Amino acid sequence: MKNVKLLDHPLLQHKLTHLRMKETGSKEFRELVREVAMLMAYEVTRDLPLEDIEIETPVSKTTSKVVSGKKLAIVPILRAGLGMVDGVLELIPVAKVGHIGLYRDEETLQPVEYYCKLPQDITKRTVIITEPMLATGGSVVAAVDLLKKRGITDIKIMCLVCSRQGLEVVIKHHPDIEIFTTAIDEHLNEVGYITPGLGDAGDRIFGTK
Ligand code: URA
Repeated sequence: MKNVKLLDHPLLQHKLTHLRMKETGSKEFRELVREVAMLMAYEVTRDLPLEDIEIETPVSKTTSKVVSGKKLAIVPILRAGLGMVDGVLELIPVAKVGHIGLYRDEETLQPVEYYCKLPQDITKRTVIITEPMLATGGSVVAAVDLLKKRGITDIKIMCLVCSRQGLEVVIKHHPDIEIFTTAIDEHLNEVGYITPGLGDAGDRIFGTK
């Protein structure tokens, strides 16, 4: 899976283990999601273009590099994706934030958009979709469809845990986008939970169960 970047940094893997543990309470879970998202943002932005600018240090004039070109937007898929936003913003404070809300139609089982608010200049930005759990892949495919329909071409996806099956679905529909994750789990159970996974990410972030 060439466009899938499995991030195996020891700090990420350590924090992921604590996210998976059922004893981890909401406060710690939320903090860990933020920290993992911040560390992942470091990898997601690895290819950002640089340009030289002239500066003066206290000692002499020199040229030095700054990030140039396209700016970034973070687009969480509501609601669990919200948990990753602050961590990314910590590293990229000038990024703008859009939101996409999707629900699953009970008859067709297809994701349906119920909310979408994006920065005005989003087509000029690299968009990072945040979705902690890529399970069936349906929501991520729908979110990317929606962004592409609005003319956005430069899209990356940031997940905590993906199911292999869901990844295959996303890659089939959108072979052009990169997916960053800290784990690929082999199974989806009968109610669509990634197994072993980490449970319902939204409920664990917001303490709703
Ligand atoms: N959503 C979650 O929060 N967890 C899963 O395992 C699957 C979907």
